[in-house]
Amino acid sequence: MKTKEVGRPLDRIDGRLKVTGQARYTAEFPVEQAAYGVLVRSTIARGRILAYDTKAAEQTPGVLAVITHENAPKRHPTKEFDPSDKEPSASPTTILVLNTDEVSWHGQPLVVVVAETLDQAEEAASLVRISYAPTEEPARLSMLDQKSEAFVPKKVLNEKPEVKQGNAEEALAAAPVKIDHTYTTPPYNHNPIEAHNTLAYWEGDDQLTVYDSTQYIFGVRKMLSEMFALKEENVRVISAFVGGAFGSKGRAWPHVGLTAMAAKVVGRPVKIDLPRKDMFYMVGGRTPSEQRVALGADAAGKLQAVVHTGLTASSTSNTFAEHFSFVTRHLYASPNFLIQQKLVRLDMVPNTFMRAPGEGIGTFALESAMDELAYALNIDPIELRLRNEPEKDPTMHVPFSSRHLKECFALGAEKFGWHQRNPQPRSQRDGPWLIGQGTASAFYPANKRNAEVKAKLSVDGTAVLQSATHEMGTGTATVQAQNAADQLGLPVEKVRFEYGDSLLPKANGSYGSTTTITVGGAVELACEDLKRQLLRLAVKHPSSPLHEANYDDLEARDNGLFYKDSPTKGETYAAILTREGKNSLQAQASFPPALKEKLEEMAYSFQSFGAQFCEVRVHEDTGEVLVSRWVGVYDCGTILNEKTARSQFLGSVTMGIGMALWEETQWDLRDGRIPNASLSEYHVPVAAGLPRIEVHSLGIPDPHTPLGAHGAGEIAVTGAAAAIANAVYHATGKRIRDLPITPDKLL
Ligand code: MOS
Repeated sequence: MKTKEVGRPLDRIDGRLKVTGQARYTAEFPVEQAAYGVLVRSTIARGRILAYDTKAAEQTPGVLAVITHENAPKRHPTKEFDPSDKEPSASPTTILVLNTDEVSWHGQPLVVVVAETLDQAEEAASLVRISYAPTEEPARLSMLDQKSEAFVPKKVLNEKPEVKQGNAEEALAAAPVKIDHTYTTPPYNHNPIEAHNTLAYWEGDDQLTVYDSTQYIFGVRKMLSEMFALKEENVRVISAFVGGAFGSKGRAWPHVGLTAMAAKVVGRPVKIDLPRKDMFYMVGGRTPSEQRVALGADAAGKLQAVVHTGLTASSTSNTFAEHFSFVTRHLYASPNFLIQQKLVRLDMVPNTFMRAPGEGIGTFALESAMDELAYALNIDPIELRLRNEPEKDPTMHVPFSSRHLKECFALGAEKFGWHQRNPQPRSQRDGPWLIGQGTASAFYPANKRNAEVKAKLSVDGTAVLQSATHEMGTGTATVQAQNAADQLGLPVEKVRFEYGDSLLPKANGSYGSTTTITVGGAVELACEDLKRQLLRLAVKHPSSPLHEANYDDLEARDNGLFYKDSPTKGETYAAILTREGKNSLQAQASFPPALKEKLEEMAYSFQSFGAQFCEVRVHEDTGEVLVSRWVGVYDCGTILNEKTARSQFLGSVTMGIGMALWEETQWDLRDGRIPNASLSEYHVPVAAGLPRIEVHSLGIPDPHTPLGAHGAGEIAVTGAAAAIANAVYHATGKRIRDLPITPDKLL
């Protein structure tokens, strides 16, 4: 394929719509007669509802319904999101809130108040009183207190919860140099700018339309069809623009089903737009974790033993054991591995994917430990990593489809000026500020899922591609238009990419940094189908310059098919279609093709890599940490659009900094209340706290993925917190193994 558009830093196609306020987000769709729903949250973490007092709410002007479990229509249980399903449901939990008197977490929605206006609904909701019978046993709210109840789950995502190779504990004991530490990370909440919003209406008893801010249109459709016993095709889900998601919108949280239920009850469209506070309580976030990493090395720094074990939490109604150990399965060579994850159940909102789930917290532990080992060995931390580069994937025992970690460190070290660094901790200062530099590997899998794409090419030289994927601000619509433009040899202005509606061909959820490869692969296949159809039309005609042509001798360019080795020999699509009297041609394709998927998945380990470098300044008297410089270099294949990829990297590093220094969801261990459930108390990164972030990508194509690409959404979160912790150690001589790195831990 000739690339003219792919790689170019094209402005995002929807940029103008967004900055002029014309891009419609879920909450902004004007639907006539829409009523507003407000949810009342539980104030206990575990127990039963005894009674409601809803009289005052019902008498509030404008109120249309006050729905509790006593009068709510019955819904049907839904299957929990299961990543091993080809098309998982987006349901985060098996609990049907408002169809039970049981309270399973603090903040569980217990009542839906529907009114003519939002103010009326809020006023009425504030008047609802609920009495509870708490359980005799206290709520389970602390992961560490529940440690004795920890169990090894059946699976961690789709993988085994344990990997044992050789005898890691023995090798660790025998290793001449070793470190063995525990790293902990707190619960986190996502906080995308756009809240979780849903608008639902019914036509008759069995046609449901839902506008939803989601990363997974077909998963929402599946959940709602199960919940209301509808045929899947009778549920339409629309999600035109999503204002950030980061994993939180991969599940349809309870308000989605409740909006549809409320619309049924009042016989009108209903909107529920979660206030920020409700998002902390009703939208799952990242589990806390406690991880042990023990590394044993020989005197030359070659790893002999790698132990990565630990604990995460999930709720009583979901099983998502966040896969912190995956990074360790693929990053460094060692003859001996002991990897194991355990899980405890807490009375909390179901946890979920968040900003590089698994690797986000896993790299904090592993890459902090590598830095500690580098100091123990007195070897440069980059050199230590290079000495442990594996030939093949160390636990899967297959080659990497593509791996350029060394090149990431080489380029990053040069850009950052790493080799001027004096490794001695506490060796640099600027007045009261202690200065340090740290580095860490980044790592994230390059997975793919399923998508279908329909392509239509018209005689006027335009093409339309359709797939029910999502635009969460990542640039999908832009990069796939660039992809299709090159596949078809059209200018990008002539290509339109449509997404965001379940009436379009099916696509899997946009999470796990999988959309670029998955949708990109389907676009490629659909375009190939079109080109083959066009060639078949042309070869029939002796007068066509393509009469004798073979597909492999041709390329798409200049609005047509031309011989690769003869610049002018060929035919435009318009000429081919006009001769046939056709206005357009269509094709539809699925990615991955089944056989290819099986063979490739087995033959290679598909991973992305990177190197993070940062400088911090730590105030000696106050413990304040500022990140003053950042250089990140990422190895995630071909970059489809330099500008949108760069934005992804910048956003991800920013999230990594937030995770390292500021963010933490506080849980009141007495009752599960979240005292910092607001953006004034939960500190997300802000521009004033960030340095200039410099990011690069190697851009080396992966020979085994569509376009040579990998997703670029999450890799740059990984390793970021470790790079900061390592820099803080270098600055201060204090090793912080417990995130976030707040001033109190440094004083
Ligand atoms: Mo990403 S947390 O898998 O949306």
